[in-house]
Amino acid sequence: MKMAECIRTVYLTLMLLYLVLLGTAHSTYPRIRLSHKELWQLNRTWVFQGHGTASLQPQTMLLDEGHGRLYVGAKNTLFSLSLDRVNTQHREIQWASTESQNEECLMKGREKSECANYIKVLQQYNQTHLLVCGTGAFNPTCALVRMGHTGQDRTFALEEDSIMSGRGRCPYDYNSPSTSTLSRGELYIGLYTDYWENDGAFCRLNNQTYTRTERDDKQQLNEPKFVGSAVIPDNDDRDDDKVYFFFTEREMDSEGGNKAMFTRVGRVCANDQGGQRMLVNRWSSFLKTRLICSVAGPNGIDTHFDELEDVFVLNNKDGKNPEIFGLFSTTSAVFQGFAVCVYHMDDIRAAFNGPFAYREKPEHHWTAYEDRVPYPRPGSCASKVNGGGFSSSKEFPDEVLRFVRSHPVMYRPVFPHRGRPVLLQTETGGRKLTQIAVDRVQAQDGQYHVLYIGTALSCWNSVTLFSSLLDDSVVLKVITIYNKDTDTMEEVLLEELQVFKVPAPIREIIISPKRQRLYVGSEAGVAQVALHQCDLYGSECADCCLARDPYCAWDGLTCTRYYPAGIYTKSRRFRRQDVRHGNAVQLCNGLQIEDEQWQRAEERLVYGVESNSTLLECVPRSLQATVLWFLQKDGEKHEVRGDERVIVTSHGLLFLRVRSSDAAVYVCQTVEHGYVHTLLRVSLRVLSGERVESAIHQADDGEAAKSALPCPSFMGPPPDPSVSPKARGPSAVSGPHSRLWYKEFLQLIGYGDAQRVEEYCERVWCSDKKRKKGKRKYSPPSGERRGKGRGEENSHRAPRHTADT
Ligand SMILES: *[C@@H]1O[C@H](CO)[C@@H](O)[C@H](O)[C@H]1NC(C)=O
Ligand SMILES: *[C@@H]1O[C@H](CO)[C@@H](O)[C@H](O)[C@H]1NC(C)=O
Ligand SMILES: *[C@@H]1O[C@H](CO)[C@@H](O)[C@H](O)[C@H]1NC(C)=O
Ligand SMILES: *[C@@H]1O[C@H](CO)[C@@H](O)[C@H](O)[C@H]1NC(C)=O
Repeated sequence: MKMAECIRTVYLTLMLLYLVLLGTAHSTYPRIRLSHKELWQLNRTWVFQGHGTASLQPQTMLLDEGHGRLYVGAKNTLFSLSLDRVNTQHREIQWASTESQNEECLMKGREKSECANYIKVLQQYNQTHLLVCGTGAFNPTCALVRMGHTGQDRTFALEEDSIMSGRGRCPYDYNSPSTSTLSRGELYIGLYTDYWENDGAFCRLNNQTYTRTERDDKQQLNEPKFVGSAVIPDNDDRDDDKVYFFFTEREMDSEGGNKAMFTRVGRVCANDQGGQRMLVNRWSSFLKTRLICSVAGPNGIDTHFDELEDVFVLNNKDGKNPEIFGLFSTTSAVFQGFAVCVYHMDDIRAAFNGPFAYREKPEHHWTAYEDRVPYPRPGSCASKVNGGGFSSSKEFPDEVLRFVRSHPVMYRPVFPHRGRPVLLQTETGGRKLTQIAVDRVQAQDGQYHVLYIGTALSCWNSVTLFSSLLDDSVVLKVITIYNKDTDTMEEVLLEELQVFKVPAPIREIIISPKRQRLYVGSEAGVAQVALHQCDLYGSECADCCLARDPYCAWDGLTCTRYYPAGIYTKSRRFRRQDVRHGNAVQLCNGLQIEDEQWQRAEERLVYGVESNSTLLECVPRSLQATVLWFLQKDGEKHEVRGDERVIVTSHGLLFLRVRSSDAAVYVCQTVEHGYVHTLLRVSLRVLSGERVESAIHQADDGEAAKSALPCPSFMGPPPDPSVSPKARGPSAVSGPHSRLWYKEFLQLIGYGDAQRVEEYCERVWCSDKKRKKGKRKYSPPSGERRGKGRGEENSHRAPRHTADT
């Protein structure tokens, strides 16, 4: 008895705590929250966890769509995983640091965990080989790896004779920020090139030259943290291709004091050969400018998000005008927040084509440089598009090189598209946003960007302690909708996916639009997750429309993947989808009259014991729906608002001490975007305590007991405290009527003599013969018109139960 009481108390307490936390920690609810277990059961995710007990610690991942593989650079190991099923048929190369490397590393005073080969650089070198670099226990090393996809050659192996020093190509420390990209056989990399991390540089390596930023030039780079990089062509002249890289750095000041962090975009010409007499093996085209991501404050002071966390380059068809998504955080002392800003190449190019920044002395303000600028324009490439007067940067006049060396900063910053973030998270409840990937999706009412954002728990917030009990690192799936009339952005949080069983900061997200999957990396492993699972939103038109998921539409029968017209030549039926407004009332009402069979609300019978607590559970699948409870008595319907005895929780209606006068029919309705949905009708019966007691003791006399106690077959299964209640849909609550549940019920309401309960069940309720007799015989309730305003009277029909008394 003690035990049951205890479990119940803990459950209720946790539940209330959960409700309180949810209410404060998150400003916006995802429409659907899926736990790892659910994702697993739905076959929506597969996780590769390496082997043995060693944690995988993936550092970098590379997608190879052509060969259907995902390469994962981890600690001492390089994995090749199948894109179709990451946890089957993996191949691996063990590439640990050597014994002598490890000893040397420990001698330098490093931790044992640091003295390993963490693979940080992973690029496709050519059709048959990967370029792989690891920290080599603070002794960076690179090698080529045969992918083993061609002809007879199926070996995934390191080319032993290709092992070379990784100095200048790979950081020493696995925690050191770096970015790399490989284009036309040349590796571009932003990293700290030295052990002590003094020399932050952006470099290019090929088999002949090593070109880099100037050493110790704080004007070029000042304590950079490299985040991302990409080669983006300007036009069809490949000699005009530029390499862009994204980083944060400290603002320069005269005293070298601690100044603010800024986010920058830098660029160089891909064909930059450096200068002939000066800037030898140095970039002759290095320029940078500031990336702004800010929101206007109430007092006219903007809040800037200056720390770049991650960058995603969303390519377009010709590759010349990708959209750049930056995930930013702010480090302000009073406020922690995250924002996503989108930049267009037009705006980035315009900033680089604009005036150079100039200041006479470091303590002066920056102004636009207005004097004559030498020719060819500093920062331009030696290309035909630029007149073809120079075949290489080595021919540029000294004056040009001198200018670019002393004026690497552009005057104009780059502002985000529409001047503000597309996504803003200021109440993240101790969650950090760490990674971003974006998919472009064509819906019926336009094109949408679906943002996938990886999170981590941060420790700065006291809420974290509690919320870590309940929340894990997750992937958020979000769309943002711009409203032209009001000039505002609407964020729609479609799904929250807990892809890993244990909370682990998400370190990588790679998207495969071709396979419609995400590949997510964390210490807990590498997970593949399907981008969408439309049928999950529900089995009705309204469920599908209200979801506002651009991947999904109602096809008349189910919620399925939406393909824009033309993809399938056979014309499909009219698809119902309204991402912009989610107007299910308009889209689905017509259907409801036809398909009334869809609209039956579930009916349930719940027993409470007088003076005990009772929960009428009703959890809509959508966390964005508002739940309303109505009491239906004597043909009238009143909203239940709750008081000190009856509490409206997001799990359902909680009676702290149920009274016999509470017995009635309770209706659980949801309202979402003006759409009213009756989920459930619960008939509450209240038993007096003595009746339960005496029934138990009369167990020997089966007939008498039956009249005293309800037939168990009317009851739904109990709440399962091991499943996150938020995660359970209403459908998950009903189910087969089980004897076990009945036993639990009796224990929960306070009758703790397990053996007596067992006997009681066996004798009275659980014989086949009796069960047949007692099976329920009520007819399905009539379909109810949906989409009506709330408060409008429905034709009620109290659930009819036929007890075998
Ligand atoms: C998941 O896959 C298993 C085996 O392939 C199958 O038995 C099961 O029905 C699937 N579950 C769902 C929800 O599709
Ligand atoms: C890729 O590079 C390696 C090393 O230089 C070379 O052995 C191999 O033949 C190259 N593969 C192709 C397809 O060029
Ligand atoms: C490497 O060097 C060889 C010989 O100088 C040259 O033919 C080849 O094009 C170079 N490869 C790259 C990728 O630059
Ligand atoms: C629940 O009901 C039982 C049986 O009547 C009673 O003994 C017990 O005290 C009640 N529990 C609470 C918490 O009221």
